[in-house]
Amino acid sequence: MQEFREAIVDVAAKAGLDPELVRQSITIPKERGRADLTLPCFRFGKPPTEPAQKVANAFVASEWLEACEATGPFVNFRFNRATFADRVLATADETAGKSDEGAGQTVVIDYGSPNIAKPLLFHHLRSSAIGQTLCNLFRWRGYTVVGLNFLGDVGTAFGKLMVGIEEWGEPTSIASFSKLYVDASKGCADKPEWMERAREWAKRLEDDDAEAVKHWEKARELSLQGFAGVYDWLGIRHDVIDGEKMYVQRARALVDELLASGKAEESDGGVVIETGQKIPFLIRKTDGATLYGTRDIVAAADRFDRYEFARMLYVVDVAQELHFRQLFAALSKLGYDWVDRCKHVRFGQVLFEGSRTRTREGGSVSLEDVLREGQRRALKIIEEKKADLPDKEAVAKSVGTAAVLFADVGFPSTKNINFVWDEILSFDGRTGPYLQYVHASACSILRKGVEAGATDIASGDPALLADEHEWDLLRRLAEFPTSVKRACDDCEPSHVSNFLYELAREFRAYYTAGGRDASLRVLVDDAQMRAARLRLVDAVRNSLAVGLGLLGIDAVERM
Ligand code: ARG
Repeated sequence: MQEFREAIVDVAAKAGLDPELVRQSITIPKERGRADLTLPCFRFGKPPTEPAQKVANAFVASEWLEACEATGPFVNFRFNRATFADRVLATADETAGKSDEGAGQTVVIDYGSPNIAKPLLFHHLRSSAIGQTLCNLFRWRGYTVVGLNFLGDVGTAFGKLMVGIEEWGEPTSIASFSKLYVDASKGCADKPEWMERAREWAKRLEDDDAEAVKHWEKARELSLQGFAGVYDWLGIRHDVIDGEKMYVQRARALVDELLASGKAEESDGGVVIETGQKIPFLIRKTDGATLYGTRDIVAAADRFDRYEFARMLYVVDVAQELHFRQLFAALSKLGYDWVDRCKHVRFGQVLFEGSRTRTREGGSVSLEDVLREGQRRALKIIEEKKADLPDKEAVAKSVGTAAVLFADVGFPSTKNINFVWDEILSFDGRTGPYLQYVHASACSILRKGVEAGATDIASGDPALLADEHEWDLLRRLAEFPTSVKRACDDCEPSHVSNFLYELAREFRAYYTAGGRDASLRVLVDDAQMRAARLRLVDAVRNSLAVGLGLLGIDAVERM
């Protein structure tokens, strides 16, 4: 509820506090009995009790705020409850959390970006899931989003594949294609002579050798076909598919230009850009080939020409931190003043049942297998809990996928995640299935309401929602737009997951309270009260559904 926060900003401004800092400082108090929103004054002077008192003195009750009190370094505010409840319920529909604040600005998000010639593996999940969620979130805030898949389609991976083709012939299907790559990389790891051949093929591709390009086209095509199934399953939809190959010639030309202009220099037979970092940025190897980094420089410039982005995000493993630091330093040295619009959105490692998944041979756990396993396990749980559920297979697919996705976007990106089936599939606790379950409970209450003859849900009177549980829910619902905004500002989907988790917990507390105390039940006899409560349940359901959708998770209606 922006208006209420802004009302606080206004009061604080009258007391001489910096509006932007106030905006950042306002929090929801842990103990909600004390206040609806709190302004901690630690950042406004020493001792903080002084600014707190000033704000309290400047307060006058308004349409938005009913009361204000300074307690030590905090200023506690109470909403005008009638205005508040009315506002919240009016906005918690299928556009909950949506805004147009980003209108007119383009955000380019580089995510997924796997190397071709291998199937998608489990470790590819993070960039894809976080990246897609960020695309969804920025779109929800009105930005124009370009979701871009930057394929690693040159280099030794391609070379290894070519050695495989030479040894065993062209692959005909996606399955034989993946196997060929795995076998060829094993061979290259064991036999230096194969590895040498792989390097030659990579070089031939860089030189646009006709035969290499012909094979490359086919490999790219087969790879994309292979990715499509998993992307589809996970709701990953890129707007643009680029690749490193398209920048090879421009990268070469760039190195020559930079040498001529003195912005790059020869070093040990290679060419580097001195960026002031510990290690200079290598842009040409001793054998004359350009590198990943060289191609990233020209790719960034090209993207700015194409999109004039307000922001460009690279959703890539923390292992590439140095790469991006050097890249941004290089772009800055080349005079691109838009470099401060670029950000490396880094994420931590993912462990699978406690162990690392990435192996040198490119073997490891296939993402598709993980998704199938999730579905299989979810089905087993459903069979145990609710054997008569209609459409079990489809629900199991949604639940398994929710478990996998939430294990990823449900927690701060920089944290390492440990992927343990029994934990992530639990219907209780901070999991995707738990959120789905609470959503389905809301759907079930609404169905029962309609069966019991409630037709007047939309006209439910918010002023009747006076119980503390109801207040918790209303206050929480109001935070949805802020959580979306923060998720975009910090490039951190977990702000939205936190919101959903807290909302789900409060909602569950609400309907279990109704189980203990009949006067608190949603489906009470009093038709007016029932309508008001059903309206609140509907608002919770909408917000959960929208939020889950932003995380790429299906909000199933029964489970
Ligand atoms: N293909 C790279 C990899 O698999 C990631 C590319 C990320 N994007 C970029 N513009 N560097 O590690």
